[in-house]
Amino acid sequence: MTLVDKLGMRVPVVQAGMGGGVSGHALAAAVAEAGGLGTIGTVSPPALARELERARGLTGGPIAVNVLLPFARAGHWDVAGRADAVVTFWGRPKRRTANPWLHQCGSIEEILAAVHAGADGAIVQGVEAGGHVRGKLPAHELLARARRLVPEDFALWLAGGIAERDDVTDALGAGAQAAVAGTRFLATEESAAHPGYKQRVVEGDETVLTTLFSAGWPAAHRVLVNAAVRRWADASGKVPRWLHRAHVASAPVLSRAPEAMQRAMMARQRPEVPMLPPQPPVAGGPDGLVEAGPLYAGQTVARVRAIAPAAKVVAALTP
Ligand SMILES: Cc1cc2nc3c(=O)[nH]c(=O)nc-3n(C[C@H](O)[C@H](O)[C@H](O)COP(=O)(O)O)c2cc1C
Repeated sequence: MTLVDKLGMRVPVVQAGMGGGVSGHALAAAVAEAGGLGTIGTVSPPALARELERARGLTGGPIAVNVLLPFARAGHWDVAGRADAVVTFWGRPKRRTANPWLHQCGSIEEILAAVHAGADGAIVQGVEAGGHVRGKLPAHELLARARRLVPEDFALWLAGGIAERDDVTDALGAGAQAAVAGTRFLATEESAAHPGYKQRVVEGDETVLTTLFSAGWPAAHRVLVNAAVRRWADASGKVPRWLHRAHVASAPVLSRAPEAMQRAMMARQRPEVPMLPPQPPVAGGPDGLVEAGPLYAGQTVARVRAIAPAAKVVAALTP
């Protein structure tokens, strides 16, 4: 029995966890109800608990919770223990839950570390992915290498480049058990991305890999170009060296800033002021973040042209 069967997924389609409130209960439940795996993105432990409970109220389908290891607290693991699956990202994989557990990986070394840590599977993330990017290779290249090295019963799911049915078919044909999409699910009615952000997704063609939005988390991420990116990054996404150094030096303090302080900072965020934090613009949040915040998106953005109900997206991705 594969992990997809164990989780009770009717279709091999996974909606990626998108943090900061983008993938909450409405999106995760709609995907699960349509037969895929819905994932609640990381938020504070009380908010995560609330989102999981609300999703449970909407569907009996499988719901995963995403835990970002650099920011994980005991409360995140408590909630993760109540989800159907746990997806971890960024950092050294370690089993912290008895539930089905996958670690999102961007290299062979990370995938083998996940195998050794006793994970049930890995999400193989390619460099084309949106959001924070661990991958340095195209997803299919990493998947092909990984397939030869991991045990037969270790699940490999592919993330990056998934926007249409053929992409899912190709991923399965290459040995993945499921395909993971983030950007495609950003442009859904149920995603909690800010309406201006969704609009940029359906209009956007090009993304850059950068470290610009690193205040509190110095890490590479793929975003659409907005005013902040135009102000501080070059065409390849590179930021001035002094800014990168400032991100690294201030991360230990900024990553622990209380939520109220983070919210106040976001409300005042301007494209021309550097030290930009990683929180994306969400519905009901400051409108200014559409130009001053990270518009995470993968290279598939060029093929996402409409905002649709999540169930329709799952159906359109199902082989
Ligand atoms: C808006 C957005 C936010 C994301 N946030 C997270 C996150 O919080 N945790 C995580 O594990 N991955 C996150 N990712 C990365 C996804 O897990 C996945 O690798 C990626 O979406 C796949 O590429 P695609 O967006 O082109 O489909 C995010 C991706 C996007 C687009």
